[in-house]
Amino acid sequence: MSDRSYVISNSQVKRHMTPMDVIEIVEQSWKWYGEGQIIMPSKVTTDMTPAGVPGWFNSMPSYIAPLQVAGIKLVGGYAENPKHGKPYIKANLMLTDPESGDLRAVMCGDWISDYRTGAQAAVAAKYLAARTDALTIIGAGNQAFYCLDCMRRILDIKEVRVCDISAAARERFIARFPDAPFRLVSCETNEVGCRGADMIITITTANAALVEDPWVKPGALVMTMGSFTETSADLVLNADKLMLDHIGQGLHRGNLKEMAAKGLVTEASIGAVLPDVVCGKATGREHPDQRIVIELVGMGCLDLAVAATAYARILASGEKVVSVDMENG
Ligand SMILES: NC(=O)c1ccc[n+]([C@@H]2O[C@H](COP(=O)([O-])OP(=O)(O)OC[C@H]3O[C@@H](n4cnc5c(N)ncnc54)[C@H](O)[C@@H]3O)[C@@H](O)[C@H]2O)c1
Repeated sequence: MSDRSYVISNSQVKRHMTPMDVIEIVEQSWKWYGEGQIIMPSKVTTDMTPAGVPGWFNSMPSYIAPLQVAGIKLVGGYAENPKHGKPYIKANLMLTDPESGDLRAVMCGDWISDYRTGAQAAVAAKYLAARTDALTIIGAGNQAFYCLDCMRRILDIKEVRVCDISAAARERFIARFPDAPFRLVSCETNEVGCRGADMIITITTANAALVEDPWVKPGALVMTMGSFTETSADLVLNADKLMLDHIGQGLHRGNLKEMAAKGLVTEASIGAVLPDVVCGKATGREHPDQRIVIELVGMGCLDLAVAATAYARILASGEKVVSVDMENG
């Protein structure tokens, strides 16, 4: 192990990792988490808006025993960024030696965060979808692009229905998949998009009921991934199975937050957590007509696992990396 600390850029990560690597690491990390090989407290949100900064960021620490790495992801949503041509989401990562606390690397977390977010939708659908023919995406922004880019790599999708309050966003999204082997349809309303869909993803910046219970057919898989409320309460309450990636986080952030605060959803409402399904400790889908609603609020250990793999590959490649001796440099 090197005794120097490295500064690793987004382009270095991209040169050494592929989207398929990330999909495999996300699945493996959920399995490890289910087996108890990852320690990951719930993320802490720092909302800066009361102090006049239009943004928030999450502190997401974890320790991954099989990779012998401890660290933290700092990721936030910065409302002013799009006005300056930058993505809304910005991520940074810090990797440390779990025995000594020595800093191994500070890394740009953007590509890692984007692809691990997309990989979550792909792996969750692999385990939980009854059918994958018709996919509806509500919120045709940046994260939605990575969801579809990962899903198309491991799922057989025939039609993608694209919903967004912005028609321009729908068109931009569709233009990002010029050679898609599936049909891309721009939908004027969420209802048109959702009726008959096999899988529905909500990944918007909205705080609103974007999906109504009567629009969701038996057997559908609904994955809510935005940071605030995205479905009607009755869709959640009428789900045949309500699932989460992480109980502690999922009841305090995202689609279930307000319902949990009112006591409408509790830990007892959760039929299974996805890491337990991936490691074989729990059952996911029990029958093809079951409507499953899952909140994928996002786990920092996924980013850390991808980052640790990228760090090891980059150092092994002999590529020049900026480094510093933190004691004496
Ligand atoms: N679950 C996770 O792991 C994870 C990871 C990263 C980001 N996120 C969250 O994903 C969400 C999307 O982030 P992004 O980077 O794609 O943002 P973005 O700004 O690139 O895209 C958001 C899209 O949502 C659309 N939208 C806003 N309100 C809408 C509404 N009422 N109906 C339909 N569409 C609407 C916007 O027009 C935009 O196209 C954010 O809430 C972000 O915090 C989740």
